Amino acid sequence: MKVKKKVYIETYGCQMNFSDSEIVASLMLDEGYEIIEDSGDADVVLVNTCSVRDRAEQRVRKRLRELKALKTKNPFLKIGVIGCMAERLKEQLLEEEQSVDLIVGPDAYRDLSALIDQADEGQKAINVILSTKETYSDITPVRLDKNGITAFISIMRGCENFCTYCVVPFTRGRERSRDPQTIISEAVDLFNKGYREVTLLGQNVNSYFWDENGKQTRFFELLEQVAAVNPLLRVRFATSHPKDISDELLKAIGKQHNICDAIHLPVQSGSNHILKLMNRKYTREWYLDRIAAIRKYIPGCAISTDIITGFCTEKKEHHQDTISIMKEVSYDYAFMFKYSERPDTLAQKKLDDDVPEAVKSERLREIIDLQQQLSHESNKRDIGKTFEVLAEGYSKRSDDFLMGRNSRNKVVVFPKEDFEKGDYVYVKVSDCTAATLIGEAKRRRVNRQPPARRSEA
Ligand code: SAH
Ligand code: SF4
Ligand code: F3S
Repeated sequence: MKVKKKVYIETYGCQMNFSDSEIVASLMLDEGYEIIEDSGDADVVLVNTCSVRDRAEQRVRKRLRELKALKTKNPFLKIGVIGCMAERLKEQLLEEEQSVDLIVGPDAYRDLSALIDQADEGQKAINVILSTKETYSDITPVRLDKNGITAFISIMRGCENFCTYCVVPFTRGRERSRDPQTIISEAVDLFNKGYREVTLLGQNVNSYFWDENGKQTRFFELLEQVAAVNPLLRVRFATSHPKDISDELLKAIGKQHNICDAIHLPVQSGSNHILKLMNRKYTREWYLDRIAAIRKYIPGCAISTDIITGFCTEKKEHHQDTISIMKEVSYDYAFMFKYSERPDTLAQKKLDDDVPEAVKSERLREIIDLQQQLSHESNKRDIGKTFEVLAEGYSKRSDDFLMGRNSRNKVVVFPKEDFEKGDYVYVKVSDCTAATLIGEAKRRRVNRQPPARRSEA
C-alpha cells in the first residue's frame, strides 16, 4: 500500500481561519493525505495565518523560524504559509522567510496538492489569486475541533467594507455568499453526527444575500432555515456589522428559541469623529439605536463588542466617548486592541499613526479594566437565575465538572453528576467570576422534546 503523506495544520487568527483549516483538511484528505496532530511527524506543515495586527504576523514569523528546525530532522519536509499573510505578502514572504516552500491564499486551497507536488520538485510554489466566486460550498469540512458538539459553518467570504484600518478586504477579497442549500445540508449533517450547535460565520454576516432565479434569501431567512433543521440545534452567528443589523433579524432571533440570544456587534470606538475616520458608516447615535432595538426585540440578549484604542487622531475626549459607550451599553464581553497600522490600508496611506505607544497602552489598560468590571457585574446579575446550558465537555479544572454555555454565550460550569456532553441541562447559578458562571444542575431536559420558548426557565 502506498504510504500516505502526513500533513500538520496550525491555525492563527479568527474563526474564519479555523473554519478554513477544516476545509483545507478536507481537501487534503481527498487528495490522499493523512491529517496528523504532531508537527514532528509531518511531511508537510501548513500554517494558516492572520495579518490583522502586526503582532499576529510577528507571532507567525517566530513560529516559522521554530518550524525551520524540523527541516534538519526531515530534509524533505515542506512548509507552507496559507491564509491572510500569504495573501498580503505573496512572493515577499518567500524571500523573507527561507523556511517557506509554498504560499497559498485563501481562495486557492483547491490548488494546494498541486502546489505541494511542485514544491516537492524543488520549486517554490505560489498561488494567491483571489476569486469572486469561490465559497468551497461543495466541501464537507473535517472537524478539527474535537468536542463533537459545536461547529462552525462558513456562509460567506470576503469583505468590501474597507474600514480604513483593516487589512481583511485585501487578504480576503470580494464579498460573496454561499448557496443556502449547501449551508442547510451541512447543518443537517452535523446534527445527525451529534452536533448541537452551529455558528454561522462571515466577516459581515448580516449582508448575506443569495438570489436564485429570483428567489432571494437574506440573512434572517437563512438563520430561520438553519434553526428549522431541529429545535435541538442551537444557532449562533458572527460577525454582525452595526450598519445593517435590521429589526427583521432581531425579531427572528427573539422569536426562535434555538437562535441564541447573543450578538457580537463591534463598535470600535464611541466617538463620531473616530468612527468617521474609520469609515465605519454609522454614528454613535445609530449604534445606540440598534442596541435599544436589540433590548426591545430580544430581552436579556447578551451584547459583546470589539474596540480599537489609539486610532489616528484619537484625543482624550474621543477615548472618553469610548469609555462612556462601554458603560452605556454595559457589554457582557469585549475584545480590545491597540491600533496597529497595516500596510496599504487607507489609514496607513492617508492618516498619521499619531497616538504614542505609551498612550495606546494606557488607554487599552483602562478599557480592559473597565470591561473586566462590566463582565463581572453582568455575571453577578445572573446569580440565582436558571439557564438552559448545552454541555460541551469537561471543565478545564476538573473532570468532576462539565462546562457548557447558555444561550447568551456565557460559560457555565456545574457538577457532572450523570450528565454528558451534548445534553441540555438546566443550571441554577450560585456563584461567578468575571469569566464564568458556576452553578448546579436543576434537571436535565428530555432531549427529544422541543424546548420551552426562552432560555431563562
Ligand atoms: N469583520 C469583523 C471583524 C474583523 S477583524 C467586523 O467588522 O467586526 C476583528 C477585529 O480586529 C475588528 O473588529 C477590530 O476591532 C480589530 N482590528 C482590525 N484591524 C485592526 C488594526 N489594524 N489594529 C487593531 N485592531 C484591528
Ligand atoms: Fe475589516 Fe471592517 Fe470588513 Fe470587519 S467590516 S473585516 S473591520 S473591513
Ligand atoms: Fe486575521 Fe484574516 Fe481573520 S487577517 S482576523 S485571519 S480574516
